[in-house]
Amino acid sequence: MNKEIDLSKHWNNAYSNKPEEKLGWYETDLSPTLKLITKTGLNKSARILNIGAGSTTLIDELIKIGYLNLIATDLSEVALKNLKDRIGNRKVECIVDDLTKPTKLKNIASVDLWIDRAVLHFFTEKTDQDTYFKLLNSKVNKDGFALIAEFNLKGATVCSGLPIHRYSKEMLIEKLENNFELIDSFDYTYIMPNGAERPYIYTLFRKK
Ligand SMILES: C[S@@+](CC[C@H](N)C(=O)[O-])C[C@H]1O[C@@H](n2cnc3c(N)ncnc32)[C@H](O)[C@@H]1O
Repeated sequence: MNKEIDLSKHWNNAYSNKPEEKLGWYETDLSPTLKLITKTGLNKSARILNIGAGSTTLIDELIKIGYLNLIATDLSEVALKNLKDRIGNRKVECIVDDLTKPTKLKNIASVDLWIDRAVLHFFTEKTDQDTYFKLLNSKVNKDGFALIAEFNLKGATVCSGLPIHRYSKEMLIEKLENNFELIDSFDYTYIMPNGAERPYIYTLFRKK
């Protein structure tokens, strides 16, 4: 990741400067993620960790569906405050932490599902990617799942002014293959609020 800029400040500014429905990653159609979550077959008491959650509406949707044990974590305290303000007194654990230097996340209990949409692809340095996959490996229970959705090889090379490391299904398999098996994957083109297309690769892995 680009160490020249203060990334915490960068993301706090991103969430302060625009209404959330204008953010370049704001979703109204959560169906690709929900389809994979359904595929896990996890029950409603499963522990679900949404990493780099920002102020995603996925949390609202998971609450609505009835999931009871949700954790949202992000580098940006502004994003998590916006999320908390929106969901009100509905119970979600929010943790401000940096995935490239995790401290609080290292100490949480393991989870049944790790969800990442549009976070890993910001980690352009191998050391940051290694830290991410080490945390993922240590925090997902056996028979638990990792749902990872990133810009695919046809995707943009910059997002929110930051460089992107794009992924194919094969690249993610290579990163996870010792401990996880691929359950499903598909390409999906997300349409940004300004109408631009952002092609993603969606993957679901199960921990062996
Ligand atoms: C493109 S947004 C996606 C947000 C959310 N996953 C969604 O789909 O709406 C990327 C998110 O990753 C977070 N992020 C970036 N670098 C991070 C880091 N090192 N640790 C934790 N979160 C990070 C940002 O604050 C931002 O909320």
